[in-house]
Amino acid sequence: QQSTRIAPSILSADFARLGEEVRAVDTAGADYIHIDVMDGHFVPNITIGPAVVSALRPHSAKIFDVHLMISPVDPFIADFAKAGADIITVHPEAGAHTHRTIQLIKSLGKKAGLSLNPATPVEAVDYLMDDLDLILVMSVNPGFGGQGFIRSQLDKIRELRRRIDASGRQIDLEVDGGINFETAGAAIEAGADVLVAGTATFAGGQDAYAGNIRRLRGA
Ligand code: DX5
Ligand code: ZN
Repeated sequence: QQSTRIAPSILSADFARLGEEVRAVDTAGADYIHIDVMDGHFVPNITIGPAVVSALRPHSAKIFDVHLMISPVDPFIADFAKAGADIITVHPEAGAHTHRTIQLIKSLGKKAGLSLNPATPVEAVDYLMDDLDLILVMSVNPGFGGQGFIRSQLDKIRELRRRIDASGRQIDLEVDGGINFETAGAAIEAGADVLVAGTATFAGGQDAYAGNIRRLRGA
């Protein structure tokens, strides 16, 4: 297994200086840039849209990991692909036809992710494994940074690790929500290989980002 990759969630960045913040976590060793897109309908918060993703694209060559918490999601997939997303992750509850949504992402030449809310069962990935490049386990209910890690999700991570290994396919197993220096270790031990971290990455100002990322990776 390759070493743990870290995906800072820019939800915890200074939104007034977003380009600079993305450059800072890039330089600090981020593997992916995790971009949380919220619509005030699928989740109770509103963040950013394709125009901001597009504006950030020149600031980093790292993988843009775009987490869509919007419903309906299909009408906006092409916009995020065009804006510079590399991975587009959707929730099965965000549309009636998840298989079609995944195919749409693939047809645009992007990697496709499926995100499971805390109460969404592992079976949501059934019949989709052949097309997924990433599975995202939400260890908080989506909507806000800074929430506490829901430990029951560790069993889900373990079960998904088994399924991914059995599939023989290269699928990222990413965990999102409440990742700190303590919970990172538990998530890695359960089988996660990509950790999203907002609060923990962006704590302490730009000089602290590299140390924060190194500590998360080594947790
Ligand atoms: C929650 C978002 C997360 C969140 C993570 O809806 O998907 O990416 O920003 O933030 P922390 O690491 O602070 O829990
Ligand atoms: Zn996220």
